[in-house]
Amino acid sequence: MIECDVAIVGAGGAGLFCALEIAKRRKDLNIVVFSEVFPTRSHTGAAQGGINAALANVAKDDSPERHAYDTIKGSDFLADQEAVFRMCELAPKIIYELEHMGTPFSRLENGKIAQRPFGGAGFPRTCYSADKTGHVILQTLYEQCIRHGVKIIYDFLVLDLVKDENKIAGFVGLDLVTGKLWGVKAKAVVLATGGFAKIYWNRSSNCLGNTGDGVAMVLRQGLPVKDTEFVQFHPTGLRRSGILVTEGARGEGGYLINNKGERFMEKYAPSKMELAPRDIVSRAIETEIREGRGFKDEEGYEYVYLDLRHLGRKKILERLSQIRELSIDFEGVDPINEPIPVRPTAHYTMGGIHTDINGKTPLEGLYAIGECACVSVHGANRLGGNSLLDILVFGKLAALDITENTKLKEGNFSSKALAKAEEKLASLFESKDKEENAFKIFKELGNALWNGVGVFREEKSMKEALEKVMELKDKARYLTIKDKSDSYNTELLFSLKLLNALDVAPSIIIPAIERKESRGSHYRLDYPKRDDENFLKHSLITLENGEYKLSWKDVEITRYQPEERKY
Ligand code: FUM
Repeated sequence: MIECDVAIVGAGGAGLFCALEIAKRRKDLNIVVFSEVFPTRSHTGAAQGGINAALANVAKDDSPERHAYDTIKGSDFLADQEAVFRMCELAPKIIYELEHMGTPFSRLENGKIAQRPFGGAGFPRTCYSADKTGHVILQTLYEQCIRHGVKIIYDFLVLDLVKDENKIAGFVGLDLVTGKLWGVKAKAVVLATGGFAKIYWNRSSNCLGNTGDGVAMVLRQGLPVKDTEFVQFHPTGLRRSGILVTEGARGEGGYLINNKGERFMEKYAPSKMELAPRDIVSRAIETEIREGRGFKDEEGYEYVYLDLRHLGRKKILERLSQIRELSIDFEGVDPINEPIPVRPTAHYTMGGIHTDINGKTPLEGLYAIGECACVSVHGANRLGGNSLLDILVFGKLAALDITENTKLKEGNFSSKALAKAEEKLASLFESKDKEENAFKIFKELGNALWNGVGVFREEKSMKEALEKVMELKDKARYLTIKDKSDSYNTELLFSLKLLNALDVAPSIIIPAIERKESRGSHYRLDYPKRDDENFLKHSLITLENGEYKLSWKDVEITRYQPEERKY
């Protein structure tokens, strides 16, 4: 048994910043971060284009209020407005904290932190470090955690939470190096496990880790998840792999072009063009493709072009060098000389574990922060650059709550929890009459989700997707792991992650079917209008005795009344 005061699950930006903030304030607390991967390989490192904060370094009139308004409008008015204000007010402070810790931001001529335009924003507000912003933030936070003595256990997969009636007691996890199961006792557990966009499989910009593990664990405890029908499709993933091509490429002036050579965004968002919010740009690209104005290659991939050639070699090398490398490596295209083939890719999950503004879930001592959580500040559509901000703001607020407001109490850790996990693993290794493979099921899951709850949705295809997911859940009972090794058993790891993804998938589809309107990333061909009268509400899903239950919760509208979203 491992014992600690605070156990943080996940070593991305949210988890590391939370750990750091606790470590700086309370030397008496034993904090341990558990991570599936080495910390600097966490998915935060894949965030490219930047982090929003109204520093007003480029546009003097910018302010946290304008940032909040843009975020609320971008969310299609589904975000809770006081939480958005808190996030936007804290943003400049967080950027200066990062700067003082040594984060190497790109600079303006006058030495101030550089800011670039991003989608849906009224001003150039996105602070960046070329096209590697998440990477440099993650490296900085990791260094600082080491400096402040934060313990980090990596190559460790958390399997299930353990609660003591209404209080968290800890969790059970698997040491991926030895194959040994561990009980972890903790007075507070902070989930920072990332989002679940990888469950769309190869139509995703996400790393293999992002299978919604935290969300699945919370569902299995009967706790609510919120707004999970809202999945963000980033407009520009690379054609074949879905790997992200940062919005910063359009922020620097890149054009989207159809097969007629037109900058088609003129038809969809004439004032913002390529810098409209992501939901609008993704729908525009898919519409161009559906109406025959896209391109199709010999392998059947359909796409449009992102053209950066007019930016010139110097700017591309200086500000978008990673994009150039990714385009060369994965598409064989050098953007200095040729346009990049792109298509929308599942990128971010606006919904997640239901929490309050301090990351508290309804279970005492259990917190969730970052992409696995839903506070909610992104509503139905997140603005680019607000995700790195979210992980840091709410990582900090959870740390403050743990260190200053909460009396940490121990829960009773039942020994049955370990036995249950042992049984689950043993059943995966048993031979069965019918044997199923996790990789095959995952591919089918990705296709079902893309076809049912992709950029465009309608009742019939969503119901088909739900049926397919239930069929795959049934198939997964026959998962049989052939690789019997204890150490780094990736087949076992992947099977466990598939089981999580299968628990999460219905929580996307069920509220999507019931939300009979279009809002933000949830666009229904059969209900193309937003319906504030009936659906200005958050969805809440719980899993009770194997049944998914849906309920609704009011949105906090305190400052701006919903209006039509035009760009
Ligand atoms: O396009 C991007 O660089 C992604 C940023 C984000 O998702 O916030």
